[in-house]
Amino acid sequence: MNISIIAAIGEKNVLGKDNKMIWHLPADLQHFKELTTGHHIIMGRKTWESMGKKALPNRVSIVITRDKNYKAEGCILVHSLDEALAAVKNDEEAFVIGGAEIYKQAMSKASKMYITRIHQSFEGDTFFPEFGKEWFEAIYNDFEKDEKNKYDFSLCEYERD
Ligand SMILES: NC(=O)c1ccc[n+]([C@@H]2O[C@H](COP(=O)([O-])OP(=O)(O)OC[C@H]3O[C@@H](n4cnc5c(N)ncnc54)[C@H](OP(=O)(O)O)[C@@H]3O)[C@@H](O)[C@H]2O)c1
Repeated sequence: MNISIIAAIGEKNVLGKDNKMIWHLPADLQHFKELTTGHHIIMGRKTWESMGKKALPNRVSIVITRDKNYKAEGCILVHSLDEALAAVKNDEEAFVIGGAEIYKQAMSKASKMYITRIHQSFEGDTFFPEFGKEWFEAIYNDFEKDEKNKYDFSLCEYERD
């Protein structure tokens, strides 16, 4: 099974603010949907809550918390990243969908990162972790803003040596 990280980041690697996504970029949501549909998506408890505690359709949601009493409907609840990875069955690509804490722990286990770079500065309080030189950019496609998507952005894929 391959482990992939998927994230959308603004300038200076900003991910979110006040446990919410900052921007609305339909093209990125569509990209996320196309990649993750039919797969397992692994997330931290805060990201689960930021998504309104709702499992996304046609995906298996796995939520990580240290709280043994935590309840979440429609997902597999686990207590470590390793437990999350062990819960993935019959899937050639499992996606780690955030947030910052979980990305940091998953980076050494992942073989691919799908990063949407939004070319705009936003105020935020959560940041995508720095990553090392072992990661190289395999694909980089630029898109200009349009009526629906208010910011220029790039869809990037990173792989590791
Ligand atoms: N732009 C993007 O692509 C994107 C994607 C995802 C999220 N986000 C943003 O990122 C922010 C949330 O990220 P975050 O870093 O604050 O939180 P997070 O990574 O989503 O969740 C952190 C929580 O995960 C649990 N956890 C972490 N490591 C664990 C471990 N080793 N074992 C067991 N449980 C563990 C803990 O839950 P308990 O406290 O319950 O124990 C911890 O509080 C939000 O603003 C969200 O909107 C952005």
